[in-house]
Amino acid sequence: AKPHKLFAPRNNTACLDVSHTPDLKHFQEKHAEFAHHSIIAMPMIGHGLPELYKHRTAQNPADTRLNIGLINEAGLADIEKALSCAAHTQWERNCINHRAQLLEKTADIFAARRVELISTLMSEAGKSFTNAQNEMHEAIDFCRYYAQEAQIQWQHDLPEPIGVIVTISPWNFPLAIFVGQIACALIAGNRVIAKPAEETPLIAMLATRCFYEAGISRQILQFIPGGSAAGAALVLDRRCDGVLFTGSHASAVKIATEINQSGQTKPLISETSSVNCMVVDSTAHIDHACKDVISSAFDSAGQRCSALRVLYLQEEIATNTVARIKQAMAELNIGNPVQLANDIGPVISSAAQRKIKTAIEQYHHCPIYQTHLPPETHHGSYIAPTLIELDDEAAFPDEIFGPVLFIKRFKIQQLKQVVQQINQQQSGLTLSIHSRLRATQDYIVQHARVGNFYINRNQIGAIVGCQPFGGTGKAGSGPKVGGPWSIWACCKNADPCEPH
Ligand code: SER
Repeated sequence: AKPHKLFAPRNNTACLDVSHTPDLKHFQEKHAEFAHHSIIAMPMIGHGLPELYKHRTAQNPADTRLNIGLINEAGLADIEKALSCAAHTQWERNCINHRAQLLEKTADIFAARRVELISTLMSEAGKSFTNAQNEMHEAIDFCRYYAQEAQIQWQHDLPEPIGVIVTISPWNFPLAIFVGQIACALIAGNRVIAKPAEETPLIAMLATRCFYEAGISRQILQFIPGGSAAGAALVLDRRCDGVLFTGSHASAVKIATEINQSGQTKPLISETSSVNCMVVDSTAHIDHACKDVISSAFDSAGQRCSALRVLYLQEEIATNTVARIKQAMAELNIGNPVQLANDIGPVISSAAQRKIKTAIEQYHHCPIYQTHLPPETHHGSYIAPTLIELDDEAAFPDEIFGPVLFIKRFKIQQLKQVVQQINQQQSGLTLSIHSRLRATQDYIVQHARVGNFYINRNQIGAIVGCQPFGGTGKAGSGPKVGGPWSIWACCKNADPCEPH
């Protein structure tokens, strides 16, 4: 079966619904209250109580002196229990409207719990208020969109689910991607064992509780906090029928290799990232382009798989544009997201901070510009927004998952080589083009191999249901998320036919 011509109406965008926006004063009072609560994340499994395997405290990356919760990781005994009680249930025989209603109800509960969710995103993942709020909207949108899409596509003909799906989600969207994977797998009738990122189990646990409160049982959705060992034990077990993974390319390859080596074949849908580029030619509106460079490269401290990493500037405008980008960088407020005037928070952990610093040091021979970090950031894991100018001969950089922007200059006659360099990665996620020339836009769109193009705008913040999001080549093995094909990827023998 193939997706039909009828897709869900695009009325799911919670971000347009101001009723979900907390009143700021109320938010600040409540946030202070939540900040004093210590959340405890622990395995939530279908039968019995979890074992006490390994526990550790969770720190706020904006100020690592602050403990924000306790994490009880799942041990092998919990993983065994989760796999053994994920057996066949009534869930896959439920009509599509019933499944959809439960996802809609979950979305309502997210909206009702918005202050707690936004607060936890800020304290656990270092998100700014705006980023946390948008992420909460995205989680709501994923639930509503998949519910609506499935009701339209499967009203009369319910496809067979895969069975037990293990979801492995990243720390950079610890609510939205965690929820999106679960919602997609559940609506297709699968049972889910969700393993959140090791860095962000607290927000994932709160989200899982919202699914339970909506009426989704612990046999259908189980929660296994843990690291890569827990992930490997889950995906390599024969009772796991399929895997949804979002994270680094290296981890995706490792999972695929281990599944193959274990002699099993099971669907593995992986979403990873790429070194995303923006091309700005001399016809671009420079103020507009600079604004989009700043948000694409530095929003979320550059910790988005969609973020801009390499900016190609046409030679004639390069010097002036670089100067303006530096000026705009100097205006950014870096600091604890609790101060709502701060634009950019910390990176996720001290380990990530060290890794990014080491990567920047590799470029000590290039012109580097870094903004100033205020003294109060010294207690957190911050990286000052950084700009590195590469010369013609420099190799295309590897991904640095943080607020680091590379700049390369090009002559317009070299546009073909620019596109070739972008394609050489064999992994393309986002690409933005700032040009007022239709021919330039068309040339790049026709020749660059990336998942999402953005013309004369920034390249982050794809909206569920409106802008399906996902890469080509090594950046993704499945259909784009938040689009009509995603739900088919969670069905047996499905033929998601999205053209890439
Ligand atoms: N979907 C996010 C964005 O568009 C990245 O994961 O920025």
